[in-house]
Amino acid sequence: MENQGFAQTQQTVTLDAVVEQQAYTLPDNVFAEKVVSVEHFTDWLFRFRITRPRSFRFRSGEFVMIGLPGSTKPVFRAYSIASPAWDEEIEFYSIKVEGGPLTEHLQKIQPGDTVLMRKKSTGTLVLDALSPGKRLFLLSTGTGIAPFASIIRDPETYEKFDSIIVTHTCRTAAELQYGFDLMDRTQNDPLVGELTTGKLFHFTSTTQEDSPNKGRITQLIEDGSFFSAMGIDGFDPQSDRIMLCGSKAMLTDLKEILDARGFDEGANNRPSSYVVERAFVD
Ligand code: A2P
Repeated sequence: MENQGFAQTQQTVTLDAVVEQQAYTLPDNVFAEKVVSVEHFTDWLFRFRITRPRSFRFRSGEFVMIGLPGSTKPVFRAYSIASPAWDEEIEFYSIKVEGGPLTEHLQKIQPGDTVLMRKKSTGTLVLDALSPGKRLFLLSTGTGIAPFASIIRDPETYEKFDSIIVTHTCRTAAELQYGFDLMDRTQNDPLVGELTTGKLFHFTSTTQEDSPNKGRITQLIEDGSFFSAMGIDGFDPQSDRIMLCGSKAMLTDLKEILDARGFDEGANNRPSSYVVERAFVD
């Protein structure tokens, strides 16, 4: 009897282990894609590109849920797609969170590894959620620049707006690197490069380190230094359109500023003068 009991216990443990290590059964709503490239910017920021499934359709600026295989219940997190709708690959820009259920593992991915991606994308930072306008302001902090990396590489953006101004505020200059590389890539892009001439502008500021523009974007808007740096008078709610992406606190403060200046928040089913999305992984 004792022996039998022992054998049973052993079997249970082994079975549990097998179940845990079993290959993840891919549900119908998830793609399994290969990592194409990974680039680390700082100890806490990296970007990676994955293969794009032929059937995957999204609008520039949307987000999608991604996860990693290796467990029976993978953790999925929302990530803005940082590449345009026409690109053959899909790019993401991420922070690395110590002990973060997904980013702890995601930061270690290498080319050839598998990333899971849910098939349905969604989001409000899309051109369809804005009414027609002349200037498009894309205001971001930290990894909140990711959806704008998609939007500024979409030819439709240049058809709809005369000028596109991307602002990126981070604590330190090192964290601005992704944005500088993005501008460079976009200006040299075979599809949209020429469209950006005289139309695409980049404004950066840092909050914890000295730089030509020091301060939060909220402060630089309120004291007017953002507008003087861009050589413009200020926001015009009649013809300016704005997208916001950053931390919850940044969004709350900017919304207040925009509402006070006569802007109105739009949505997919009710386009208006500005739209908002939280930079998710934090
Ligand atoms: P600060 O350094 O003054 O907090 P985070 O990494 O926390 O998301 O911050 C990214 C950038 O967003 C930082 O430069 C930070 O400035 C700025 N930030 C944080 N909170 C706000 C806010 N309420 N309004 C505007 N910018 C903010």
